[in-house]
Amino acid sequence: MASLAGKVAVVTGASSGIGWAVARELAAHGWRVGLVARREEPLRRLATEIAAKGGAAVPAAADVADRGQVEAAVAAVRQALGPIDLMVANAGVGKATRLDPVNVADVEVQFRVNVLGVVYAFAAVQGEMLARRSGHLVAVSSIAGFRGLPGESAYCASKAAVNVYLDGLRAQLHGTGVRVTTICPGFVKTPMTADNTFHMPGLMTPEYAARKIVTAIRRGKKVYAFPWTLAALTKFSRWLPDRLVQRVMGAYDTDTDQPPAP
Ligand SMILES: NC(=O)c1ccc[n+]([C@@H]2O[C@H](COP(=O)([O-])OP(=O)(O)OC[C@H]3O[C@@H](n4cnc5c(N)ncnc54)[C@H](OP(=O)(O)O)[C@@H]3O)[C@@H](O)[C@H]2O)c1
Repeated sequence: MASLAGKVAVVTGASSGIGWAVARELAAHGWRVGLVARREEPLRRLATEIAAKGGAAVPAAADVADRGQVEAAVAAVRQALGPIDLMVANAGVGKATRLDPVNVADVEVQFRVNVLGVVYAFAAVQGEMLARRSGHLVAVSSIAGFRGLPGESAYCASKAAVNVYLDGLRAQLHGTGVRVTTICPGFVKTPMTADNTFHMPGLMTPEYAARKIVTAIRRGKKVYAFPWTLAALTKFSRWLPDRLVQRVMGAYDTDTDQPPAP
């Protein structure tokens, strides 16, 4: 496993849930961490907690859907902590996709944050990584990217876009010293899933998910989907008739703004 101590990571979506836990886990392994999200107060709180344990963390508030803000936040982290070795593009939103009227504004937000947010975060560090011939680009996608789920078309499509974007990048960056890892979690207990009323098979704590994610990063995995049983079932469900998918997964089409992730 790669040694991590002393290196610099940026985690987007670090103010909550998986990103918060991944930033803590990285800091526990000796990484110095840049913390990015829109809400500054929880970022400051996390930075203080990491510093109290002897680590180093810098809050840098930004909307990941705004390229200028992402560039500025990454520049602030670079100035405070040094060149970026690892980018974890984790920030994401999930909203149900409605039929009539179609909530196009929600679809747009999911593509801006979930897809362009990853593109902008990577773009902010790709140049320096290529120049140093070293670095690691990681995106937190989802098992939901493996197939379109009823009521979740836009969320699933945004995650499928992330998966394929990273597939292409990984091949293009082969031999450059820059690695690419796609993380596809199943259900994790975070504010994003807090309002889900249906059974979430294999529901994990953010801390457990963060340990798995950081281990996958250290091992330099290409694609890491977990739990593997849910990943396999979701992939298999692509071959099921729509009628059955609607019956089994139609319950995922809740009438809330929270996504029935993964
Ligand atoms: N929970 C699950 O079951 C699950 C499963 C699979 C994949 N995922 C993925 O894991 C990632 C994290 O989700 P989570 O469950 O930890 O959700 P969460 O607790 O709601 O956290 C989402 C994070 O993204 C940040 N964020 C949202 N919009 C942003 C924006 N425009 N600019 C900057 N930051 C933004 C939020 O910070 P601010 O609000 O402060 O900006 C927050 O830190 C997402 O990509 C999600 O799709 C989640």
